[in-house]
Amino acid sequence: MVAVAPLATTTTTKLYSLTCGLNLGSARSLQWPKKETPCCTRKAGHNKVTAQFELKPPPYPLNGLEPNMSQETLEYHWGKHHRGYVENLNKQIVGTDLDGLPLEDVIVRTYNKGDILPPFNNAAQIWNHDFFWESIKPGGGGKPSGELLELIERDFGSFDKFIGEFKTAATTQFGSGWIWLAYKTGKLDVGNALNPRPSELDKKLVIVKSPNAVNPLVWNYYPLLTIDVWEHAYYIDFENRRHDYISLFVEKLVSWDSVSSRLELAKAQAAERELEEERNKKEAEKTSDSEDEVYVDDNSDDSEAE
Ligand SMILES: [Fe+2]
Repeated sequence: MVAVAPLATTTTTKLYSLTCGLNLGSARSLQWPKKETPCCTRKAGHNKVTAQFELKPPPYPLNGLEPNMSQETLEYHWGKHHRGYVENLNKQIVGTDLDGLPLEDVIVRTYNKGDILPPFNNAAQIWNHDFFWESIKPGGGGKPSGELLELIERDFGSFDKFIGEFKTAATTQFGSGWIWLAYKTGKLDVGNALNPRPSELDKKLVIVKSPNAVNPLVWNYYPLLTIDVWEHAYYIDFENRRHDYISLFVEKLVSWDSVSSRLELAKAQAAERELEEERNKKEAEKTSDSEDEVYVDDNSDDSEAE
């Protein structure tokens, strides 16, 4: 599996592994009862051993985004809210079937094709915030270059049009949620998704809005950039002026380097997944053919016996 650079040092490094290997169909019947003896462990100790996700710090000091995002905002947003998701998820899954799974697997399993199970919100919020902190940087903003810019221009008409659509999506998200730039491949396998729509074309960049903790992993998309539009992301610096926060995010904070790296890896992962799906398809056809041959031989034997 190819690791994803922006999350390379986190406990959530297997960003795209779930999009390749997880059987979404089995998630519908997922149960997560307490086990008598947890089977998965990460830390050795004298007493009971359990899996624990950890709070990862942003890749810069808490005052590193000033004056565009205050230290006080990070102290609350990362130090209180993000930390809370980690602590709550650890309490929710300890000793369950989810204990010991990669975070992305917990997210997809508990999303449960839209029939959300209780640990989903905390699990997805951990992942979303790790991804958010690495979507921005001190001295960010400006304009991307290279293939990323070419794809943005191809799929949105121009960089300015993309920025306009991204801002509109972030401004109009009703209530709490996230806005994403994502690389879309494959057909949508979630029938109840309202946004995005299953009919959208493949292998293109898309802007999607997600409510509450939902993220594009549950649609099998490759996230490239996100902005957190929960009020806790901006109320200290901007009070209720979400639009000003969004403008500052795109003008002064976005790390286009991270987005470019994510696009490169997303394309590699998508190509790998395509090959794997092709191999699986051929294997299934081969199995089907050999079963047909057995059936023909059986008839032939019967015929001779008569
Ligand atoms: Fe947040």
